[in-house]
Order: sequence, then C-alpha cells, then structure tokens
Amino acid sequence: MRCVACGAVYPLDPRMFSCPRCGGLLEVVAAEPPGVSWAAWKRRRPGVWRYREALPVPPGAKPVTIGEGATPLVDAELDGVRARVWVKFEGANPTGSFKDRGMTVGVTVARHVGARLVVAASTGNTASALAAYAARAGLRAVVVLPRGGVALGKLLQARLHGAVVVEVEGSFDRAMGMVLEAAREGYAYPLNSFNPIRLEGQKTIAYEVADDLGRAPDYVVVPVGNGGNIAAIWKGFKELHEWGLVDRLPVMIGVQAEGASPLVKAWRAGLREPVWVDKPSTVASAIRIGRPVNWVKAIKAVEESGGVFVAVSDEEILEAQRILARRVGLGVEPSSAAALAGILKLESEGFFRAGEEVVAVATGHALKDPDAMAKADADFRRASSVEELKSLLRSLAGAEA
Ligand code: F0G
Repeated sequence: MRCVACGAVYPLDPRMFSCPRCGGLLEVVAAEPPGVSWAAWKRRRPGVWRYREALPVPPGAKPVTIGEGATPLVDAELDGVRARVWVKFEGANPTGSFKDRGMTVGVTVARHVGARLVVAASTGNTASALAAYAARAGLRAVVVLPRGGVALGKLLQARLHGAVVVEVEGSFDRAMGMVLEAAREGYAYPLNSFNPIRLEGQKTIAYEVADDLGRAPDYVVVPVGNGGNIAAIWKGFKELHEWGLVDRLPVMIGVQAEGASPLVKAWRAGLREPVWVDKPSTVASAIRIGRPVNWVKAIKAVEESGGVFVAVSDEEILEAQRILARRVGLGVEPSSAAALAGILKLESEGFFRAGEEVVAVATGHALKDPDAMAKADADFRRASSVEELKSLLRSLAGAEA
C-alpha cells in the first residue's frame, strides 16, 4: 500500500485505513499479475472476478459474490451529439449500483481477516450494497445515513437485507465523520471508500470498458461524490496501460451537482484542495456531499489524465435522466444522469471532436429513487371502460400518423 500524500509504502494490511506517518489516504499498489492477457481473462465468465489476479484478495479467501459486474456498455446513439456516447449501465449490478463491485472485494477481505461487524456511512447505495454482501457473507452490517437524505429504495433495500440502519441528523458528511472515528477506534470494520481495498473492486469498471471496446475510450465521465469511484476507474486504466493491455489512457471528467460541488469550485479557483460545502443541496441525493473523503485521489485522477471537473444544475440532471429514459431506454437515478448532463454541457461548448468516444458511467438504477421518478413525471391516464381505452388508443394512433 502506498500513501497518496507522502509516498510511504507499506505491506498490504486490510486493517490500515490511513498512513501511519502522515495520516494520508492509502492506495493499493498492484504488481503486474504474471501471465495476464485479455485472452486468458476472456476464457472466464465476465464480471469482477474475471480479473481476480489484479484484486488484492489473498489466495485462500473465498469470494463473496452475487454476480456483480458484467454490466452492459450501451451505445447511446444520441442524435445531435458529435461525440460517440457509450453508457456503462451500473444499475444492472445485483443491488442496482456500482457499489457492488467494491463490496464483493471489500466484504471478501473483511470476512477473510475475521471481521464480524462491518460499517459504512452512506447516501444509500453503499448501504444497500454492504447490506446485501454482508448478508451473503454471514456478517452483521451497520449503515449510518443522513436522516431524510436517502432515496426510499436504498433505505428499504438496506433493511430488506437485514442491516442495522442508523439515521443521524445532518448531512452525509457528519455520518462519515462519525464512522471514521468509530472505525479508527476499532468498533467495526469500515467499508467506506477510504478503505482502499473496496476501491480495487470498483476499478474493474475500467477493465470491463476496455475489455468490451477492445481499447480505452477517449473520455470517461463519472459523477463525483466522495471521489472514490473516479479515482478507482483511473487507477484501473493506468494498470491496464502499464501492463500493455491498452495502448493509451482516457481523459477523466468528474461531474458534480452545482449545489454540492466542492471539487468543481476548487478546480475553477485553481486550487488543488477542496472548498468544503457545509450544506450540500441537490436532487441527486447520492452525490449530496460537501466534504469528499477521497478529494486528493479524485483531483489527482482528473489532473494526471488531463481532464476537468464540471458542475451541472438539477434541471440539467433531470433533463439527462429523461433523455436516458426516453431515448436510450435506460432508467438511472439522478446522480447517475449527472454524467450525461456533464457530457451534454461540454458538447454544447464544443469540447468534443466528432467521433470521439465518451463513456458515461451511469452509476445507479432509477428504481433506487422513486421520489425522483415521481417528480420527473407522474402523469397517469384513466380508463373506466374498454370504450375509453379504445378511444385513447385511437387518438394516440392518430397522433402517430
Ligand atoms: N453515483 C451514485 C449513484 C452513488 O451512489 C455515488 C456515491 C456516486 C455516484 C459517487 O461516487 O462517492 O465514489 O465519488 N454514493 C455513496 C453512497 C456516497 O453512500 O452510496 P463517489
């Protein structure tokens, strides 16, 4: 493991969550696995564990898996957009978000090192993924959530899988602060993204995109909350590049909602540190985060790749959600739609060249957030007889003609 702040290097220790020397964030340094090639990987079933040599899992550990990864990469075929937009639909994971990739690896390692109780702060998706993987592994899960700040589907999903749900007053950032302190004092094994082992699972988004396209795309656009995912994806591409499995690297673009955009504010001001947002506010509740724990890694990913951070408004997010739902056929939650909103914003500024390949990481499923769907459109018709139904169908057919 290496400290991203001071560069100190340590042996892999799944119970070390910050640098003992300077307190900085740690990352796993993956050595080139002997004999890996696309051909060897492609002989296995698709999914996170196809790439197991590249994951920091001890040989004796039995994977806690529910079939995560292997999500579709959908050609969006968007009219009027010069770039070629692909959507990596992470909503197709077992609990409906990309968090499953991190949890399959994180919970596998947690169980292997003897953890009985696992904990995470969450805006909802981490909570439901942890709940499901802990259930599968026979571990007790506790999730700590901002009261009133979590989409209904996620909240109930966490309970359905049997996690203890703890609601706290205030924002996600307060919940995260509480979990950090309790975990540091050894009360439970933490599976938030300050745990670098979890992020190793999430880097397989990069592996799968390259596996599917046969190359790295020009751009990868990621909605950013804590900043762990964009860093994990960038790390994934860097590894593939180092190991000769892709011949170039993509440019990473981080998208935040205007009301919760500490990294965008820092970026615009030319700072290489975040500008904390005390009361983050956006319709995209999954990324309603004012103090991203992985800010160092997220800024590094964007900077090293030559990318940018962009902010999008709630209206732009909801419009992108509508486009994905009604033109592409993909139902995503608002936070996920932020990726396409960012692409459309950059496209309108002439950022992309014709034919450039852009992958939007659609992080979570629309079903996660029924209230957002209701707000987007809850216009229902009624028919009290078959005659009324026929008359409606006639008028719709007429409108078609
Ligand atoms: N999209 C969705 C749907 C998310 O749930 C999250 C994070 C992100 C994007 C941002 O990822 O934090 O790695 O930058 N959700 C966390 C949670 C905070 O608790 O579920 P990030």
